[in-house]
Amino acid sequence: MPGRADSERETVEIALLLEGVYQHYGFDFRNYAKASLRRRLWRRVHAEGLHTISGLQERVLHDRSAMERLLLDLSINVTSMFRDPGFFASFRQHVVPSLRTYPFLRIWNAGCSTGEETYSLAILLREVGLYDRSRIYATDINEAVLDQARLGVFPLDKMREYTQNYIRAGGTQAFSEYYVARYDGAQFSRSLVENVVFAQHNLASDAAFNEFHVIVCRNVMIYFDKSLQEHVHRLFHESLARLGVLALGQKETIRFSPHEESYEVLDAAEKLYRKVR
Ligand SMILES: C[S@@+](CC[C@H](N)C(=O)[O-])C[C@H]1O[C@@H](n2cnc3c(N)ncnc32)[C@H](O)[C@@H]1O
Repeated sequence: MPGRADSERETVEIALLLEGVYQHYGFDFRNYAKASLRRRLWRRVHAEGLHTISGLQERVLHDRSAMERLLLDLSINVTSMFRDPGFFASFRQHVVPSLRTYPFLRIWNAGCSTGEETYSLAILLREVGLYDRSRIYATDINEAVLDQARLGVFPLDKMREYTQNYIRAGGTQAFSEYYVARYDGAQFSRSLVENVVFAQHNLASDAAFNEFHVIVCRNVMIYFDKSLQEHVHRLFHESLARLGVLALGQKETIRFSPHEESYEVLDAAEKLYRKVR
């Protein structure tokens, strides 16, 4: 069991490492949720064959490839197509009708990871006849996952699970029409990303860059501490048009945030909110 002095030293070493990473590379993990951050840092310490957090600090500040490995550990990229299918079914039901009233739609998929969520949104929009007038800005802090997203090749052995998700999400076509099998990958149709811009954007430090009718940011803020969550809520509030829709992940909420009063709930269970002020 580490003593109090050890744990205080560890806290200081973590703070120094995060500050160093921020100053040197500009990646700001200083306000990420502490427990999960600590676990991931130690995993990287051991994976690098090191023994201390300060040893890791020295390595990442002198070796960019070590920083890239750490970035992958810290930016937790797990995702899937039509993840939480009830969300997409609810989006069709509660959000799509109001989107039909706009001649042009700007959608921000923040924290898009390897793109499975973005392709799912594109498929949904195509099936409801809104894709041609939509532009999706799909952003993530991590360039490596964006490269994968641009390729649009997802593991073939996932397609059975994704097909089931798609059906539960209210999909109306044969899911297999959207991809062709290539070796062990499923290459999704390029037409799904014709109206998608993939770009790096850091929710912790980058500014608003457009005004959106919909912001989808699921399973990202869960890794942030309260102050960073509030910062991101402010950014989203600033970036949403009036009556724009905010979509969060299953374990995330607008409740208890300073912007709670600015939204009405469209679907509490599926975390869909409409900006009203
Ligand atoms: C668990 S994935 C969620 C992917 C997808 N939204 C979903 O729900 O399946 C979290 C993503 O957030 C990204 N992320 C973490 N911190 C970020 C930040 N400060 N700015 C932008 N993206 C960030 C990670 O790189 C990762 O791809």
